[in-house]
Amino acid sequence: MPIKSVKYMKRSIEKGELDMIKIGLLGLGTVGSGVYKIISENRESIEQKVGTELEIEKILVNDLSKTRNVKIDNELLTDNADDILENTDINLVVELIGGEEPAYQYVMQAVNNKKSVITANKLIIAKHGSEILKAASQNDVQISFEGSVAGGIPIIRPLKESLVASNIHNIYGILNGTTNYILTKMTEEEKEYKDVLKEAQELGYAESDPYSDVSGLDAAYKIAILSSITFETYVDINSVYSEGIEDITLTDIQVADELGYVIKLLAIGKKQEDGIDIRVHPAFISKNHPLALVNGVYNAIYLHGEIVGDIMSYGKGAGQMPTGSAVVADIIQTAKDIHYNRPNVYADKSTLKHKIVNIDEIKNLFYLRVLVNDKPGVMSEVTGILGKNKVSLASVLQKHRLTPVVPLDLVTHPVKEKNLNNSLAELKSLKNVKSIESVIRVIEDF
Ligand SMILES: NC(=O)c1ccc[n+]([C@@H]2O[C@H](COP(=O)([O-])OP(=O)(O)OC[C@H]3O[C@@H](n4cnc5c(N)ncnc54)[C@H](OP(=O)(O)O)[C@@H]3O)[C@@H](O)[C@H]2O)c1
Repeated sequence: MPIKSVKYMKRSIEKGELDMIKIGLLGLGTVGSGVYKIISENRESIEQKVGTELEIEKILVNDLSKTRNVKIDNELLTDNADDILENTDINLVVELIGGEEPAYQYVMQAVNNKKSVITANKLIIAKHGSEILKAASQNDVQISFEGSVAGGIPIIRPLKESLVASNIHNIYGILNGTTNYILTKMTEEEKEYKDVLKEAQELGYAESDPYSDVSGLDAAYKIAILSSITFETYVDINSVYSEGIEDITLTDIQVADELGYVIKLLAIGKKQEDGIDIRVHPAFISKNHPLALVNGVYNAIYLHGEIVGDIMSYGKGAGQMPTGSAVVADIIQTAKDIHYNRPNVYADKSTLKHKIVNIDEIKNLFYLRVLVNDKPGVMSEVTGILGKNKVSLASVLQKHRLTPVVPLDLVTHPVKEKNLNNSLAELKSLKNVKSIESVIRVIEDF
């Protein structure tokens, strides 16, 4: 039902405001259905917030014959993208297909046809954000992508608006719910990675092909987006170091616990004097740090700003309704911008190119688990090689076992990755070193 008075409508037209926002939805899967439901069930309050009527004009799907879990007029559905992208009535396109192609091509076509775009697609924003923002700027349309990072947690708009004066220079995120769920279950139920992954797949918390999540790639896309916004720089996704959780064992989790840590997959973005340090990897973090309390499928982002101090946002990082809520918030804001004819205020700043610091040059503390022959003099052989490569030890844990091979659990002081790697290569060549079981970074300087 239209909710604007005739008087208000006349005034809008005189002021050059666009009277009806027509939306084309690309995709009606998990998030697309959530967005459709939220808009259908809250139309009146959404239209009041926007200040004009809103209508979903067409919805692109892959398979027109599929049974949908939302009540929908089949007339709205199409399998021809041009019914939306070339439709001159539609002024707002919401891309919820996912993947790189055809999503990227559709977004560019929409923008070049002067349609504002909302997407929750981290892949296209991380890989092609610069081109998309540039095209949006040239066509004077809006691009919003709040749903692309951390689902229901507001983070992109706060970084662009509320925190813009805070000089944020450190971001630490738990940005992938699947890996956080697996690590939490391994810790709480003392199970190995493979067993928990299988359970997570059965429960629908992990994809049948879990590579993008467990390899750290998904979190790498997300931290690339957050760093690009925070540090106003272009980030080449290929130069973001990422390491997943596939090699984390129950023993690692138990040793971490003994030493006062938990293991989390951290996505890190830090501004340094010589560039930007962006990476994803598992890390030991103190049990007392707020991020250590983020368990299960929850996500969190911990920021440090020179002016604001420490801030943490916590919530559901995925799912139909949390992500749907972020997308609909973008729809409301963008629809308002279109309605009041506001220009694109986020011109492409990502042409700035800060250097991304190579992981070899980054200093970290490390936990090392080395299996050695239980013989006199082995410890001094190991510490000798470490010392030669400027790796000094903060702690050494050696449990006495009545076995010929024993583990050495070592924690280093801060050391450059390249020095650590040189020492590991030398350690591997020692006759008395059977294997290097684990190398995990320890993060203490939040
Ligand atoms: N799921 C989440 O919790 C979540 C959280 C944050 C961000 N996201 C992002 O949101 C986006 C959508 O994710 P989703 O989980 O909703 O995906 P999904 O459930 O797989 O839905 C994809 C939708 O796009 C349609 N589609 C796929 N390829 C198409 C093509 N080539 N042409 C036309 N239609 C096509 C599908 O049509 P059919 O229905 O006919 O198959 C389906 O409706 C992704 O970028 C994802 O990364 C998702």
